[in-house]
Amino acid sequence: MQINEAYLHELIDFTDMTSQQRSEVLEWRNHESVRNSSHNREIISAEDHVNFINGLKGDNTRLYFYVESDEGGIGVFSLTDITVENAVYGCYKNPDFDKKGTGTEITKLAAAYARETLGLMSLNVEVYLDNPASLRMFEKNGYKETGRTNDLVKMRLDF
Ligand SMILES: CC(C)(COP(=O)(O)OP(=O)(O)OC[C@H]1O[C@@H](n2cnc3c(N)ncnc32)[C@H](O)[C@@H]1OP(=O)(O)O)[C@@H](O)C(=O)NCCC(=O)NCCS
Repeated sequence: MQINEAYLHELIDFTDMTSQQRSEVLEWRNHESVRNSSHNREIISAEDHVNFINGLKGDNTRLYFYVESDEGGIGVFSLTDITVENAVYGCYKNPDFDKKGTGTEITKLAAAYARETLGLMSLNVEVYLDNPASLRMFEKNGYKETGRTNDLVKMRLDF
């Protein structure tokens, strides 16, 4: 699906990924930089990865997209706990793709999708305090702090 020509990116639903794209995503997800920012920091097996993708079929509360630009796969974003008003946002970039601003590209694209395609009013994120790149990226993209715990900050983007 071509989401918005202004961004020139393709969003590929996880359930429509090729086997090559599935493998890339598993590699990215198991990269130390991504695991260390995730709630589940364990290595994910190929079997669990396939089961996870299959479990998304027909589930309207969770969407995961592989984001492709003309330079290849640049990362992933997810919208989970989707209601008529809001969702929880998550993302990671392809750790081998070190172009600055990639996280922002993905985050802007996800916001456009959430607002224009799903008609949501806000997105929530939870960011670990030991993840300064992510905190900076969300601040830069208009997310505001709504609360925090000992180890993470809760932020929201209102449309
Ligand atoms: C979070 C993530 C998507 C950011 O991607 P990115 O391509 O670096 O994002 P951007 O370049 O758009 O923005 C990062 C900002 O943080 C800054 N930054 C990077 N490392 C930093 C650090 N150690 N301390 C402070 N700021 C830092 C960058 O300079 C940039 O800010 P600037 O544009 O003002 O210079 C990427 O690091 C990632 O995939 N991390 C693992 C998964 C993750 O943390 N996901 C977010 C939780 S939902």
